[in-house]
Amino acid sequence: MKVVFIGDIVGNIGRDTVKRLLPWLKDKYQPHIIIANGENAAGGRGINAAITRELFDWGVHGITMGNHTWDNREIFDFIDDETRMIRPSNLPPGTPGRGSMIVKGNGKELGVVNLIGRTFLPPSDCPFRVADEEIEELRKRTKCILVDFHAEATSEKIAMGWHLDGYASLVVGTHTHVQTNDARILPEGTAYLTDAGMTGPRDGVLGMDKDTVVRRFITGMPARFSVAEGKWTLNGVFVDIDESTGKANKVQLITVDEESWIAV
Ligand SMILES: [Fe+2]
Repeated sequence: MKVVFIGDIVGNIGRDTVKRLLPWLKDKYQPHIIIANGENAAGGRGINAAITRELFDWGVHGITMGNHTWDNREIFDFIDDETRMIRPSNLPPGTPGRGSMIVKGNGKELGVVNLIGRTFLPPSDCPFRVADEEIEELRKRTKCILVDFHAEATSEKIAMGWHLDGYASLVVGTHTHVQTNDARILPEGTAYLTDAGMTGPRDGVLGMDKDTVVRRFITGMPARFSVAEGKWTLNGVFVDIDESTGKANKVQLITVDEESWIAV
């Protein structure tokens, strides 16, 4: 099974980039299933119903979230009914939505788990224990499992990769918006990448307008961030999974920007 994971979609430039590049991604990687992190899709903060619908219409099969899940209040209207979107699983019992899902696409089924880190992020339940529980449940249905670990600290993400080696097909980090160059297959067959990066404006600070962010660092004064403008970038990761074992055959970074991309 071939899977493409698209790193955090930021604002309208991120959405336009996904729309523009999906035909190219489908042609180049021939994915059965496409998963995207959408927690920054609505103006950098959260997601709404219209954007969710658009992403599915364009060919995304499943959406993961993160610490910005609740930033757009519209999500409360549909997250309980939307079976193709998940928020971090290691949140308190009773939190709206769900933390794992089975995504269907092109005759294939992929188990997907969303987790949030505990280092430099608000308190949450233990992502390691919750990962074990979620994966045990999903493996009753499929051995092909993708884990989006939305976390700040590289050490916490690497530890999760080792913890899940042999139990997940792909452990991919999100949240930092900077793609790391450490895609590899761990000894027990789990593909691992510390951070997928982001899909959105290339010349900001993590997708936000650079002048505002720089000024805030220099002055220490509060400032309202807005999504940057200008050229786009798309970051993600491709994984080819052996469906009989759930282990990864191949993992490959996806990284293109407006200047390097050649349209098909
Ligand atoms: Fe985040």
